[in-house]
Amino acid sequence: MSFDAVDVIRTKRDGGSLSPEQIDWTVAAYTRGEIAEEQMAALAMAILLRGMSRAEVARWTEAMIRSGERMDWSRLDRPTTDKHSTGGVGDKITLPLAPTVAACGAAVPQLSGRGLGHTGGTLDKLESIPGWRASLSNEEMLGVLGKAGAVVCAAGSGLAPADRKLYALRDVTGTVESIPLIASSIMSKKIAEGTGALVLDVKAGSGAFMKNVDDARELARTMVDIGSDHGVHTVALLTAMETPLGLAVGNAVEVAESVEVLGGGGPADVVELTVALAREMLAAAGLTGAKDPAEALRDGSAMDAWRSMISAQGGDPDAALPVADETCQVAAPATGVLSRLDAYGVGVAAWRLGAGRARKEDPVSYAAGITLHAKPGDRVREGEPLLTLHADTADRFDRALEALDGAYEIGEAFTPSPLIIDRIA
Ligand code: URA
Repeated sequence: MSFDAVDVIRTKRDGGSLSPEQIDWTVAAYTRGEIAEEQMAALAMAILLRGMSRAEVARWTEAMIRSGERMDWSRLDRPTTDKHSTGGVGDKITLPLAPTVAACGAAVPQLSGRGLGHTGGTLDKLESIPGWRASLSNEEMLGVLGKAGAVVCAAGSGLAPADRKLYALRDVTGTVESIPLIASSIMSKKIAEGTGALVLDVKAGSGAFMKNVDDARELARTMVDIGSDHGVHTVALLTAMETPLGLAVGNAVEVAESVEVLGGGGPADVVELTVALAREMLAAAGLTGAKDPAEALRDGSAMDAWRSMISAQGGDPDAALPVADETCQVAAPATGVLSRLDAYGVGVAAWRLGAGRARKEDPVSYAAGITLHAKPGDRVREGEPLLTLHADTADRFDRALEALDGAYEIGEAFTPSPLIIDRIA
């Protein structure tokens, strides 16, 4: 069946619903290059302004999945479960989480991305481990999963190619911020990845994609519905992203912090979120009687799974991680309680230090990043270090310090708020 692209655009522009056939044709024709970029840009803008019904979003996602391959893990002898985070500052949770869940009996096949902008990418963090390889064939993925129970690697170009093309277009046409388009983009890749169960960590706050909780809740609801409509058991946690997670923001520094968590230590917020997401992942996979994730962190089995996962992908879990040549300390300007440490400011500063990239072809510095010496609620003394900045060259510091201007406050008191705001199933 064939349609006229202009009719499809007009239908959405005027607030109508697209039929399943119109959606299938639009996504397939765009992927084949038969709908011009300017027509898809107009349609994306109409969708951003007019929205989509649940049925339209489900069909749009289905059409994007069908534009490429859908992976199949049925040869594994255990259930698959995965997590997706909408991205935050210091969000290294996949690193301790995937091996912890593997140690509790599920398989975690995670296809992940590189960072863009102020939030870091899981692959960039893992690539700071000497020898570790992000690109694996499907057979290699299966081998790592069978051996270690978890694999984290780059998504190949065969997975939801329609999304790859559309996301690049949305990026340059001011149409990223549409809940139906974000939800279908994320879920098409996760469903094509072939996981049987999925837990979403949808972040809300200054360092997140969604700045307020209501938008984050709507995004979570839309993604959970898409998952359910495609037979993937999907649950979302809404989590706070007003301040960085943990005490490390960057690449190698976040790997080091993740290893502390896997060794039974690490910052309380990283442990709390790792354990909460791991429990949800196991429950979503139907493994209700499995070992508790907190126990896997205590008894060394999560660390064993990590070492096995890193070695199976060519990495040396014992190798020294890259260390920055230059450091710069930011001192507390007063004595009192750290009442605010803004995730966005810290994320932009880490990015300017070289930990992230502005364009997807840019390289990242593995050693660049920021170490926090205090978290909101901690007492600090004037002149004592609040943050340490790490960079390959000292000329990075001025612009990073500018991003931190106004990003922290010292006061008299601090009222803690929960890290896990809500659960949507
Ligand atoms: N991440 C994605 O994969 N897609 C979006 O649309 C936004 C964030």
